[in-house]
Formats: sequence, structure tokens, C-alpha cells
Amino acid sequence: MPPIPEFGRVQELIYELQIKQVMSREVATVTPDQSISDLKNLLRVKRISGAPVVENGKLVGIISVEDLIRALSKGEMAASIRDRMTTSLITVNEESTLIEAVRKFAQLGVGRLPVVNDRHELVGIVTGGDINRALLEALGLRYEAEEKHHIVHKNLFEEISSDETSIRLKYAIASKDFGNGGKASSRMKRALETIGVPPEVRRRAAIVSYEAEMNLIIHTTRGGELSVCVSPERLQICTTDAGPGIPDIDKALRPGWSTAPHWICELGFGAGMGLVNMKRCADEMKLESTPDVGTRLEVVIYPQLHT
Ligand SMILES: Nc1ncnc2c1ncn2[C@@H]1O[C@H](COP(=O)(O)OP(=O)(O)OP(=O)(O)O)[C@@H](O)[C@H]1O
Ligand SMILES: [Mg+2]
Repeated sequence: MPPIPEFGRVQELIYELQIKQVMSREVATVTPDQSISDLKNLLRVKRISGAPVVENGKLVGIISVEDLIRALSKGEMAASIRDRMTTSLITVNEESTLIEAVRKFAQLGVGRLPVVNDRHELVGIVTGGDINRALLEALGLRYEAEEKHHIVHKNLFEEISSDETSIRLKYAIASKDFGNGGKASSRMKRALETIGVPPEVRRRAAIVSYEAEMNLIIHTTRGGELSVCVSPERLQICTTDAGPGIPDIDKALRPGWSTAPHWICELGFGAGMGLVNMKRCADEMKLESTPDVGTRLEVVIYPQLHT
């Protein structure tokens, strides 16, 4: 994904808000058996530039004003939508966080994405405008809440008396489990909030853990483990997996280098920027791998450097 310029609240929200919280639920749709002429009327009346095609509740295609213009120029107004729609669909799951939609907008140059549930039923549509609106609203709400209540985040470590305290969190990540992509890092971020880890450190940790979690989902054969070890002086994020391993670490760390297959790129991943983003968030990063054995990634963030 494109580099993230800073670790502010907007980034935090992009990794936190779910698509279902920002999408429009009122979607103007067409059926495959309607005609291009029906589409023309719908786009005009609703002032929209495209519509998902739905058959028996399932999303089967998408048709846009460009398809309409192409049909118009050939005088094919009676043609069915089925014959003119695009069926290679790029969608987002309602449970995903905004980062997934932002990636797809940036990487695939699309302006709107149909939102589906786990049964692949259309539940909404999300545009860049929806995302901007939701971010502004969420930022405003948080600001107001903090102003009103003068929220002071407690630091758990200050409440605990011990010579050396650390808290360890562990998450199992399954290979190719895109439906749960980002869930472990969201859970981890909430835990860090509870512990009282400062916001800037939390944001960096959230970006690292998200990218690391997605790499386990995308690139490993059998999944792996994401773990975080927090102490007042040090926050360490680790992933381990049992293969396939990385043959050339230097290449893997290069911006834009990716072995993700085409279908992964269609999901909006595989820009070869994950490790680069992690490095930018990290104070230290170590990547070790043995082909056919496995990979271990370790990122350390020192809270004192960011507060
Ligand atoms: N745990 C892993 N196991 C095997 N290969 C990995 C692992 N993590 C990363 N890689 C390799 O390193 C490459 C670069 O990873 P990076 O996260 O930077 O980019 P990406 O995952 O391909 O794309 P993006 O993160 O931008 O969606 C991957 O394409 C993959 O070949
Ligand atoms: Mg990656």
C-alpha cells in the first residue's frame, strides 16, 4: 500500500473504523435482465455513475456510466445489462476496516466499491466521500468527548508494583483467512489502549501489526503467530511462521517488490509496501527467514522516543 506520511489520528481511524460503519446502505441496483435503457434512467434519476447488478440477492456484476456510453454509441439501448456488465468484481467485506477500501481505491483506481457480507450478499456501497465524511465525524466526536470529559488515559504499568513488568499478547493467524484480516491487530490495539500505551506508540504498533498479520495471511502456507510484548521501556511485535520462507530478504525489503499472485493484487494487496511501512514505524526491525523452514519478524518500538 502507499506509504503513510504520519502516525496521526486519521491513520488510527483508518485502521479502526469498519466499512459497515461508513458505507451507504441505500444502494440503487439493477438486475441482469434489465436493459441499458433502464440503466440510463436510473443513473439520471439517482444522479449516480454506476450501479451494482444483483440477482437473487447476490452481487453478480457492476455496470457503470462508461458501459452505458459504449452501448449508447453503438445504438444498443435494448441490450441487456447481463451482456454489458463487468463480472470481475472488486468488493470489500462489511467487517473489514477502512484501510482495505483505501488500498483498493489507491491501487485499482476505482471510485466506489460494493460492500458484501460473508454470504456475498450486497449490503452497501462505499465511496471516497463516505470515508472522508466518516473520518471527519469520528475525529470531531473524539475531540468533543475528550474536551468534555478531560479523558486521562491511565497507564497500567504505573499501577503495578514490580521490579520488572511486561504484558504478552498472542494471536494465532490462519493462512488465507481474509475474512478475519486485521482482526488480531485491532484486538491488539484495544489491549494497548487499556494498558495505557501512548497514542503515537499505539498507532505505530497498529500499522506494524496490521501489515505483519496480513503477511501471515497472504504469504504463509499454514499461518503463524502474532505476538506483542509490552513493558514501560519497550514494545516488541513478533511474527513467526512455518514457511514457505523468504529466499532473498534484501529483495523482500525493497519498496514495490512483491510475490503476491494476481488474485491477491485484485484484493488490493501486494503493492510490496508492507515491510517498508513497518520499517518506517519501527525503531528496530529484524527479518530472518530460512526457505522451507519459516520466517521470523521482530519489530521494536521504544515508547520514550515517541512521547
Ligand atoms: N511471512 C512471510 N512468509 C513468506 N514470504 C513473506 C512473508 N512476509 C513477506 N514475505 C515476502 O516479502 C514480500 C514483500 O512483503 P511486503 O509486506 O513488503 O509486500 P506485500 O505483502 O507483497 O504487499 P503489501 O504488503 O504492500 O500488500 C512479499 O511479497 C513476500 O514475497
Ligand atoms: Mg505485505
